[in-house]
Parts: sequence; C-alpha cells; structure tokens
Amino acid sequence: MCGIVGYIGPREAEEFLVAGLRRLEYRGYDSAGVATISPEGALTVAKTRGRIERLAAQLEETPTPGQVGIGHTRWATHGQATDENAHPHLGGSGTLALVHNGVIENFQSLKRRLEGDGYQFHSETDTEVIAHLIDSQLAGQSAVDDMADAHYQPLVEAVQTALAQLQGTYGLVVLFHQWPEVLIAARSGSPLIVGVGSGEHFIASDASPLAGYTDKIVYLADHELAVVTADNLRVVHRDEGHVTHDIHVLDFESGDVDLGDYDHYMLKEIFEQPESLTNAMRGRFDFDAATAKFGGLTLSPQQLRSVQRLLLTACGTSWHAALVGEYQLESLARLPVEVEYASELRYRNPPIQSDTLLFAITQSGETADTLAAMREVKRKGHPVLAINNVVGSTIAHEADGGIYLRAGPEIGVASTKAFTSQCTVLAMLGLYFGRLHHLSFSAGMRIIAELQELPDKVRRALQTNDEVRRIARKYADCDNFLYLGRQANFPTALEGALKLKEISYIHAEGYPAAEMKHGPIALVDRHTPSVFLMPQGHVYDKVMANLQEIKARNGPVIAVICEGDMEASKLADDVIEVPAVEEFLQPIITSIPLQLLAYHIAVARGCDIDRPRNLAKSVTVE
Ligand code: F6R
Repeated sequence: MCGIVGYIGPREAEEFLVAGLRRLEYRGYDSAGVATISPEGALTVAKTRGRIERLAAQLEETPTPGQVGIGHTRWATHGQATDENAHPHLGGSGTLALVHNGVIENFQSLKRRLEGDGYQFHSETDTEVIAHLIDSQLAGQSAVDDMADAHYQPLVEAVQTALAQLQGTYGLVVLFHQWPEVLIAARSGSPLIVGVGSGEHFIASDASPLAGYTDKIVYLADHELAVVTADNLRVVHRDEGHVTHDIHVLDFESGDVDLGDYDHYMLKEIFEQPESLTNAMRGRFDFDAATAKFGGLTLSPQQLRSVQRLLLTACGTSWHAALVGEYQLESLARLPVEVEYASELRYRNPPIQSDTLLFAITQSGETADTLAAMREVKRKGHPVLAINNVVGSTIAHEADGGIYLRAGPEIGVASTKAFTSQCTVLAMLGLYFGRLHHLSFSAGMRIIAELQELPDKVRRALQTNDEVRRIARKYADCDNFLYLGRQANFPTALEGALKLKEISYIHAEGYPAAEMKHGPIALVDRHTPSVFLMPQGHVYDKVMANLQEIKARNGPVIAVICEGDMEASKLADDVIEVPAVEEFLQPIITSIPLQLLAYHIAVARGCDIDRPRNLAKSVTVE
C-alpha cells in the first residue's frame, strides 16, 4: 500500500521517479507526487490527486528538474484523495520533503504538540507530522562544517530522534533542501529497498521499479535507516549503530513487470500460470523417495515428522488457498489442519499445542495482519514457516523458514497466479507430509505424476478463454452471482466470488453447494446466475442434485465441468469444460475459468481491471 521511490545520481531524477511510480501504481492510486532539488538548489514539489498519468501530464508542462528526488503513489488512510493530502509533504517551511508508507497511530497528539510549537499543517495526513517532527529536531542540531565528513550524522540523529517518537509503521524517504547530495530512508513495518547502481542509488518500496535500472538490491530491515548518496550507502540500525549490508541480486527482468501484448496485468498473469506452476515445482521432487523436497523448510524430517497438527493463516485470496490446503493436507497426509484468518488469529489467543506448526501463506510477504499473526505464534515459541512469493519480504525474513512460490511479480491487484501456485505448493506439502506418515511409494509417484501434468492441463483450461468471454458478455448485466462448490471446490467458489466482487463490483457470494438451501436460495431468480463447480469426483452426484434445485427455481446456471460431461451439459445453461484431474488438484483447474469469467465481466462493464475501486495490492496497514 502506497508506493515510494527515490533517486540520487547523474540522471534526471524525474525520469526514474515517474517510471518507478507507474510500476508501483498497483500499490495505491489515489494521488501521486514527486519532489526534486535542482542544480541551483530549488526544491520543487509537484503533486496531484488521481492517477500517475495525471501527475505525468502535469510534469510535461512543468518539469521538476534535478538529479535527486523522491516520489509517492498513495492509498489514502488519513484524509481523502486531494492535492493537499498527496505526498511529498514539506517539513517546517520547506527544509525537507518526505514521502511515507504506513500509519502513525499517535499522530493526533504529536500534531497538537507541533501546532503548539507554531507548526502549520496543510494536510489531514499523519505523514505531515513526521516531516515537521524531523524539521523540529533539525532545528535543535548544532551546525557542522562539512556534513559529508560527519557522515551526515546530524541528519541521521534528527531523523532517528523524530522516529523514536512515532507509534505505528513507516517506510519513508527524506529529501533535505540544504543537503541535496543525500537521501535518508528508514523503515519500521513497511518495506523499503535500496537499488545499487554505478554512481547512483535508487530507493523503492518494492523491487519492481528497479528492473531495467539495476539488479543489485539491499533490503532494509525494521529499525534500519539508510544514508544514501550517489556513490555511497551506509546503513544504521536504531540500536546497533552502523551495520554492514548484504547486496542481493534481483531475479527478474523488466519484461516480468511490463504488460507485453496484454491489455491488463491480470490477464497476463492468468495466462502465465502454466509457467508459474512449472516454476513452483521445478527441482522440488525427489523421485528416489517419491516425495517432494523443499530447500527452505529448515526443520529436519525428524522434527517435521513429529508435527501432529498444522495451523494455516492468511488473508483474502491466500486464505482461500489455505482452505484448499486444508483439504489437500488432510486427504494426502491425514494431518489435522486448522485454517484461521490472520486478522482474527492475531487477537484470538487460541490454545496451540506444542506439536503444531504454523504456515503463514502470502503473496506479498508484507500483509500486516499475516505478519502480526505469525509474530504472535512465533512469540509463543512455535515454529513458523512461510509460503510466500516475494523474495526478501518481511514475512520471508522473519519466518523460521519456508517455501517460495516462484510465481514472479504479481502486479494485478486481483491475485491469480499466486493463488494457483499456493495451492500447488500446499499439494506438494501434502505429498511431503503424507510420505513422512502413511503414503506408499507408489501413491507418492502417482501424485508426482499428477502434479507434473498440471501445467499442461492449466494450458488447456486457458483455452476456454473465448467461450468464457461469450458467457461473460451474456451475464455481465446481472447484479448478483452465487458461486457453489463442494469439498475442495468450496474454497474455489469463495475465490471465484471474491474475484468477481473485486474487479467488477458485482455482489457475489461463495457457498458450499448444499448449504445454499439453508438461506441463500432465497436469492435465486431469473437474474441471479449460479456458477457451479462440478468436476467429476466423489460428490459429483450431490452437486448435480443442488444444480437441479437451482434450475427448479428458474435460476440460470453456469457450470464448470470436466471435458465431455454430457449430463451436466444438458442441464446447465452454459458450461465451461476443463480437463479432469485428481480431486486434490481440482481447485487449481476450476479456478482458471473463474478468473477469466471475472476478468471478462469486468471488461464488459468497463471497469478498471488493474486498479479496482478502493483496493490496492499488498495490505501493509491493519
Ligand atoms: C485478492 C487479493 C487479496 C490478497 C490479500 C492477502 O485478489 O489479492 O485478497 O490475497 O490481501 O495478500 P497477500 O497474499 O499478499 O498476503
């Protein structure tokens, strides 16, 4: 949530700042702004409500010159999306400009104090408090002759003293009017990275703006502050002072974060799934032992064998993947699994037995609730592992170990390829734990073979695209949808309904198909389509009976069925045929047409697919 960029070096900063903000727009798009300092020493701020394009048009007219600058794209928390509330915010009467991601919980009391000291506020944001607070600390600093010789220590101390007064979360970058040769970046609870170039440095809230500029990055940890000049990077920890930093090499290229020939990131990512699933499985099978293997699990097979219960926690789509995982792990490994919303788990204080292992499931690795739930379980002494997509994310960093999804950058706000990768990794975990317990060698080999066929079957499922588009246009005017499935396809129903809600703003509900009789059936009429997930399996006949109940009430039915299922084809108004797979993999296949259905309905309704109303990627606030 909220995107941050910064640049210092020989280029015109504005070029990188705007390009970087475009790549970060998925993190928030209410308003945007940049600030630079020109070679003559003028601090210029340009900011506006609305999208980056609006800012870019403004900058075409009136550029912000300079080789140092900061930028921000906002997802509003305090105050509406207005020009005044857009970042950067100035401290004092323009001694500094600041961009911030996160929430400052004690901003009201700090604001009252600063107002008492004579500071004037021009926005409703919590961020402006930080800018003035740093200014007030700078005012108290004794002058130094040469700031560079002093390693910018007075600036570091002013920022650190201000940050020590904040309660809440921040990733921030400060641009000092009087010292244009340095930027200071700091984080606590909101991600921030520094890109290392040759005679230049880049700052960003995630790696996507850096692709094409540099492949060397430094991840800042909580309570670290970076003093960044064109030629030098110095990292200072709140408690430990100057610390050495590791430089990591980025594993993606600009093509991974660009749209290519697709109209939208969501569609691009839907079509990337055969590849993302191949990557999720690459090198992770042990054929001699008929099992899965994961380099990052960190616990020994003996420790993992003594695990008697799994607790899966996540939010949103990742929570739906966890529900799929519950079916997979129970059926393949016969392990009891509990799935809990991270936002509930963090405050619930449930009794957790000593033989329980927690998996935090997340695409971004930054979701505030998932992180807090993981920390709480870890604090109680339980091992915590992550299933996570973004390398170097906070959750990856803080977990005891884990499994990367390797899905590549997911830019579309509506999660698609991360979901199917999560389900695939959870199925592989089912195989792994199953082989530690009761699964035979031959059963293990059968499961591996099924998993290996998955990317091709997903490719075939994607061939339904034209048919799904036709169906989408037919139903695009409906105001309500029901999504119904049973067993492992119940979470898929929830996920299908969420996808539709998010990007088309149509009311949709997912239910276990039989549960529909206990209330939701009252919604069924000629204008309320029911999307049935009914591939062949042990509950097929039961779902068929549920379908009949809807038809008996004149409800239109769209059925996702296995290729060649004539019986369902006769009854449903529209069918989408997908390849048959084992039941524990069905959610991966049946979710593909649901992603496409949501996408095409949203396109037919003229919605902004990659920037849906009120949403943003990576929910780093509670
Ligand atoms: C839905 C969606 C969200 C996320 C949720 C958790 O399409 O993207 O529901 O799944 O915010 O995010 P991560 O997986 O990054 O923890």
